[in-house]
Amino acid sequence: KSPLRLGLAGLGTVGASLARLIETKSETLTNRVGRPIELAGVSARDRSRDRGFDTSQLAWFDDPVALARDGDIDVFVELIGGETGPALDAVKAALGRGLPVVTANKALLAHHGVALATLAARSETEILFEAAVAGGIPIIKTMREALSGNDVTRVYGILNGTCNYMLTRMEDEGIAFDDCLKDAQRLGYAEADPTFDIGGFDAAHKLAILTSLAFGCEIDLDSVFIEGISSVTNEDIEAAAELGYRIKLLAVAQLTETGIEQRVHPTMIPAHSALAQVDGVTNAVAVDSDLLGSILLAGPGAGGDATASAVLSDIMDVAGGVLPPTLGLPPAKLVPYRRARM
Ligand code: NDP
Ligand code: HSE
Repeated sequence: KSPLRLGLAGLGTVGASLARLIETKSETLTNRVGRPIELAGVSARDRSRDRGFDTSQLAWFDDPVALARDGDIDVFVELIGGETGPALDAVKAALGRGLPVVTANKALLAHHGVALATLAARSETEILFEAAVAGGIPIIKTMREALSGNDVTRVYGILNGTCNYMLTRMEDEGIAFDDCLKDAQRLGYAEADPTFDIGGFDAAHKLAILTSLAFGCEIDLDSVFIEGISSVTNEDIEAAAELGYRIKLLAVAQLTETGIEQRVHPTMIPAHSALAQVDGVTNAVAVDSDLLGSILLAGPGAGGDATASAVLSDIMDVAGGVLPPTLGLPPAKLVPYRRARM
């Protein structure tokens, strides 16, 4: 079968991880989707930067819009970031040409999701965004597929890895706010402008997307109440701990009698509760629904490989929609079993 040719715009934390995974897991991916997945064109600002993979043989576009519009590609993967500018223009160009788009850009979707989904539908293509909410946690596919028969009443959780990493280190190690933020940036967790993280805006973007999926409504970012963690001090965290609480940045969307309420704010939660145990860059999303009751999904909420894992799952959906072998049906691998000894 012919390869699936990717146009990858953005070779930073997530984009470079994705490119490396496509190279190192090439055989596995080909076996799983039945065709090779290859990088056909890339775009970033600085050609000379070492990205940890060979870019010399790839078609390089300084302008991501040119890659989206003219690249010899089957899918456009947007990992630049930002709600306007090159990310928006390039995604529009790709969708306008009928190409499927995969993106991790929650700011873009929170502001322009409805318009972009409309453009995709008009062009008979799709926009996939598993990585846009809660990093590597498969919450989008869970909401759209596994919970499709449920009526959701509430979705809430910890949706920003940077803030949770900072609050955890402030509590566990007594480290100052600014030093924790610098570490989160160094580790690739924070947004290019970290105000989006600590100001609560990134969590609000993700919540607005989740709300739309949970309640089947249009995204409405403007109605989210947003308060970040900028004013949370080490002393606040200590005082909360003395009372048996931990401070977390929670994002909550719930159905009320008068409409859908969306809010993001620091919250004191009982130290013994499941959400209070969610530490570091881990995110957690809880969904309450009529048939299933409550579920809680937790996992890495930011970082290169974890986020690239979610991007890759969307790319694999586009590549063929072929699920990996199941219950031993061909082409199952011959892996020996061993009896467990207790
Ligand atoms: P980075 O800032 O690390 O990377 C951004 C990339 O975009 C860089 O390679 C940069 O080029 C490139 N870029 C920026 N402007 C332009 C432009 N005008 N033309 C061409 N290329 C450009 O971001 P991340 O990888 O961290 O994030 C990417 C996206 O993924 C964002 O939408 C983010 O919100 C989202 N995301 C990030 C997560 C994370 O853990 N980091 C987790 C989940 C989602 P250059 O390298 O040359 O400067
Ligand atoms: N800056 C984001 C965070 C990246 O810290 O959660 C993942 O979306």
